Amino acid sequence: MQISFVAPSDVTSRGEGGTWVVGAVEGSALLPGAVRLDKASGGALTRGLKFSRFTGKPGQMLEVLAPSGIKASRLLLVGLGKAEALDEKSLETLGAQIVGRLYTAGESAANIEIDVPKGSKVKKAELAAHLAFGAKLKSYAFDKYRTRNLDEYEKKLKTVRIVTSDLAAAKKAHAGLAAVAEGIFLARDLVNEPPNVLYPAEFARRAKAQLSRLGVKVEILGEAEMKKQGFGALLGVGQGSARESQLVVMQWNGGPSSKNKKSGKPIALVGKGVCFDSGGLSIKVGAGMQGMKGDMAGAACVTATMLALATRKARVNAVGVIGLVENMPDGGAFRPDDVLTSLSGQTIEVLNTDAEGRLVLADALTYTQRRFKPKLLIDLATLTGAIVQTLGYEHAGIFSNDDHLVQRVQAAGRHTGERVWQLPLDPFYDKMIRSKIADMKNIGGANSGAITAAQFLQRFIEKDTAWAHLDIAGVAWQDGEQKPTIPSWGTGWGVRLLNQLVKEHYEA
Ligand code: BES
Ligand code: MN
Ligand code: ZN
Repeated sequence: MQISFVAPSDVTSRGEGGTWVVGAVEGSALLPGAVRLDKASGGALTRGLKFSRFTGKPGQMLEVLAPSGIKASRLLLVGLGKAEALDEKSLETLGAQIVGRLYTAGESAANIEIDVPKGSKVKKAELAAHLAFGAKLKSYAFDKYRTRNLDEYEKKLKTVRIVTSDLAAAKKAHAGLAAVAEGIFLARDLVNEPPNVLYPAEFARRAKAQLSRLGVKVEILGEAEMKKQGFGALLGVGQGSARESQLVVMQWNGGPSSKNKKSGKPIALVGKGVCFDSGGLSIKVGAGMQGMKGDMAGAACVTATMLALATRKARVNAVGVIGLVENMPDGGAFRPDDVLTSLSGQTIEVLNTDAEGRLVLADALTYTQRRFKPKLLIDLATLTGAIVQTLGYEHAGIFSNDDHLVQRVQAAGRHTGERVWQLPLDPFYDKMIRSKIADMKNIGGANSGAITAAQFLQRFIEKDTAWAHLDIAGVAWQDGEQKPTIPSWGTGWGVRLLNQLVKEHYEA
């Protein structure tokens, strides 16, 4: 789908070029573009309103087919809700809903002419850019493995023009968002890809191919190198798999020189990349194993965020580190009762091989802190089923040793609509992972499983590292309700949030 911006003077009043999408605020008050097309069509919209329950509430639509007097194939009047309530998120939702409706209609081209309503704080350029962003996100599909009935899945809508009188500013605002959309599409692709195709080495290869052409330095460590360096926890997880484990290190240096000791320090993102989580010898039951191709969503988000930052040439130093493994139960697999020595030197008694994500992260966290001394560290992981039970599909869980960082992440999440909810860390929970024979065990008790997992990670955080852990098991893929801007299983959750966080606080 091609999205472009056009000035009002470039479009004719005869409504050529497919569907004309125009807006109304609550109370059915038509915005100027709608008034113009209503007139040109001899009152098609005002007449239509009489036969409809449309009142201009968000998401409501009124469709008039083949209106007389103009050349448009249809008029689509969309509700914006209350002018004061309009924001970036609601505009993205609206953009997505419009595209969804035009897909259903089988339309091939559309002009969207939605004016900023009186009483709204949103700027013209922002409105245009976020409508475009929402439209773009909705256009994602993962159909590469379908071979039959392709026309059933084909998206006919090829051209979307957004009419705006602030053309230059709209294009500029959109460029940054288009980079984020690229990232989200990459994350969704990685999460949706089946595990026989996307195993650790293939993930690493794709990360390198996508990022190095943008000027990101990408290093890949294989098992031999990790063994030499002492990645005992990560390698323990991967040892029952026929696929080689990998660590990918991505560096984007768009900020001040790293010679500048303070401002040059990078922000660091660490991701759990379990390309398939069978549970290992503590094997999952069938229903619980389905979908575990997506257990690398944290790593996908990190890779995708690096892509977005590099694409929009963000003035920041950022490193992304992802631990890629497959958790499988062959004869060489690690066992419950094994003791692993992590890269940090701390020993871990494995009591359940299905609590593997924390083992992968432990070594990735140590490596990242030792090598980069980051000014802050955020890890993302589909870490526990417990977080899904606690927060469902609407919030990711956040655990942190730094309340200031939590506030920033939460604010970025509210801004972009990827919300996070804080849960506690406390020495009381830390006691639950004491081992009888080693420094810790990899599971807590029957309860508070998301918290004990976070406590485990915290044992690998060095004293002066500002750190936040995001448990994204409930939000990384859609087992829950379908959201307008997310048409696929993998959501690409977190790319928007992290990009916003960087933009607001960490760009030079
Ligand atoms: N990848 C899973 C967590 C998960 C579960 C993600 C459901 C998405 C949906 C993780 O590796 C896991 O298996 N966690 C166990 C931990 C337990 C053995 C302590 C869990 O949550 O059951
Ligand atoms: Mn597991
Ligand atoms: Zn897992």
